[in-house]
Amino acid sequence: MRHLIDILELSVEEIDELVAVANDIIANPEKYQEKCRHKKLATLFFEPSTRTRLSFEAAMYELGGNVLGFSEAQSSSSAKGESVADTIKVVSSYADIIAMRHPKEGAPMVASMKSDVPVINAGDGGHNHPTQTLTDLLTINREIGHFDNITIGFCGDLKFGRTVHSLASALSRYENVKMIFISPEELRIPEHILKETLEPAGIEYVETTDLMQYMGELDVLYMTRVQKERFFNEADYIRLKDSYILDLEKVHCMKEDACVLHPLPRVNEIAIEVDEDPRAKYFIQAKCGKYIRMALILKLLEIK
Ligand code: NCD
Repeated sequence: MRHLIDILELSVEEIDELVAVANDIIANPEKYQEKCRHKKLATLFFEPSTRTRLSFEAAMYELGGNVLGFSEAQSSSSAKGESVADTIKVVSSYADIIAMRHPKEGAPMVASMKSDVPVINAGDGGHNHPTQTLTDLLTINREIGHFDNITIGFCGDLKFGRTVHSLASALSRYENVKMIFISPEELRIPEHILKETLEPAGIEYVETTDLMQYMGELDVLYMTRVQKERFFNEADYIRLKDSYILDLEKVHCMKEDACVLHPLPRVNEIAIEVDEDPRAKYFIQAKCGKYIRMALILKLLEIK
């Protein structure tokens, strides 16, 4: 039985396969509509979510399956003090597969050790978010066509932004990928990702506080929200929240075929006017999330 807790558990070949299946689902949705008949997905969300939870649920419905779950910790027995381990033991006797989001880093991993069915990490604290990365990779595949030979800028909260941690790790396995990490000093990418993942893979990277410095070189600009819920003190959040605001004037300095991505939700970091620019791909990206999650559910349930 396979779980998905960290994106690096999937080989490059498996990622190619998931992307290919997702592209086939987009082209031929009717082929897939009965694949998960009588299967149940449990969505256990101990933290807020719009896209991740709803795209998982839509994915299971489009495969002909059913969904059960909860969307806030307060409506589950965790509010009564139940442990993640006990919740999972029980839920894995009701469902065939589980997607779980939790504010504690490592909670989905603990869950996977107690579960009788596959567990998918739908975001654990400021740590990882592997299915957002699959979403990002499908978008890059469809919009740019390759993962090798790209220059990607990550901008915003690189410290707490779990989507950044997972995407940078995933891209470290491709050839000639350059990474530009753009953040305020206090929100720099964690050192362990640089030292333990990117450097051993020979990834060329730079860290800067200046969004415009490399703008004209980027193939992908990955904007992120400052993760308010991970701050210990509100004054720091207020000081840092508007560090970077991407507006049309800045987007006009990008290559014509570059893409602007954002896992969403957006707060202030991309001006609404950017939505009309052909480089803005974040709503297409959100749509990709459903198809790649369909492919992932099929893979983990071992359905051909
Ligand atoms: C992201 C998350 O939850 O980490 N959202 C998402 O899943 N699309 C990004 C964020 O909340 O800023």
